[in-house]
Amino acid sequence: MTNDPMNAVQPEIFAGPAMPTPNRLRLGDGAEIMRQWPENFIDLTVTSPPYDNLRDYKQYVFDFESIATQLYRITRQGGVVVWVVGDRINGGRSLTSFRQALFFQGLGFDMHDVMIYQKKNTPFMRKTAYTNAYEMMFVLSKGAPTTFNPIKEKTVRSGFEKLTHNKLSDGINKKRVAELKKEKTKTNIWSYAVGLGGTTSDKIAFQHPAMFPEKLAQDHILSWSDEGDLLLDPMCGAGTTCKMAAINKRNYIGIDISQEYLDVAKYRLEQNGIAVCGDYYER
Ligand SMILES: C[S@@+](CC[C@H](N)C(=O)[O-])C[C@H]1O[C@@H](n2cnc3c(N)ncnc32)[C@H](O)[C@@H]1O
Repeated sequence: MTNDPMNAVQPEIFAGPAMPTPNRLRLGDGAEIMRQWPENFIDLTVTSPPYDNLRDYKQYVFDFESIATQLYRITRQGGVVVWVVGDRINGGRSLTSFRQALFFQGLGFDMHDVMIYQKKNTPFMRKTAYTNAYEMMFVLSKGAPTTFNPIKEKTVRSGFEKLTHNKLSDGINKKRVAELKKEKTKTNIWSYAVGLGGTTSDKIAFQHPAMFPEKLAQDHILSWSDEGDLLLDPMCGAGTTCKMAAINKRNYIGIDISQEYLDVAKYRLEQNGIAVCGDYYER
């Protein structure tokens, strides 16, 4: 034993996993990259997975359970994950969306809302069923969401009208003049036009086969996050969430397993005057 501090064994300093730097795009498997990050720090994720092999994503393997598990780990308490997903419909609905929803619940997420993304113009007509015009938007929260900035819309009628009072125990409807509200909180069914001009006006982005509309991403971003928050899309495709996060003064991190799609996202962001920091591999 020696008391000489120069010879004393230094305890190993373990700094823990490093926080990722914001406003960048990362190339790789979403789960693998998230696994390198600390717990509880992402404010909001807005994402859409590849589902039921409906599109050719260049044969990449998609391990849903690992991505979901990592999303739960890195989301902060009160943070939200918006998971936009549909089902294969030919040959009977696959119900992949429902299975994923139950898995998320099993991890500990609250199913805060099941919202509908309605497509105003939809090509999915079927001979033996009604035209499929929607996907699901699961709003998952880690505990109660700490941020909710409800989007309002104009009411159809406003001004003063004779309104019916609730019946009292006498069963008689009474009427009185009152002012109608000018706006109300939107319902949980959101409709968007899809295609060029609807989904986005960035032509380059259509090199990706399955984007969600910019407006959809923006509406969730405004609802569940505040300026300065850190937003994630672990399967960012053409970078829709990243673009709308930056435009709305949030920080972003986008991950995709395909370099081709990430290049599209980078070009698209830069074309819109959005800075993309670092390279695809830096932590
Ligand atoms: C439905 S698209 C997302 C499109 C995106 N929301 C947009 O608006 O551009 C799904 C994306 O997941 C990517 N992907 C598939 N497996 C992945 C994985 N394991 N890790 C990260 N990204 C993955 C695909 O390359 C594809 O771009």
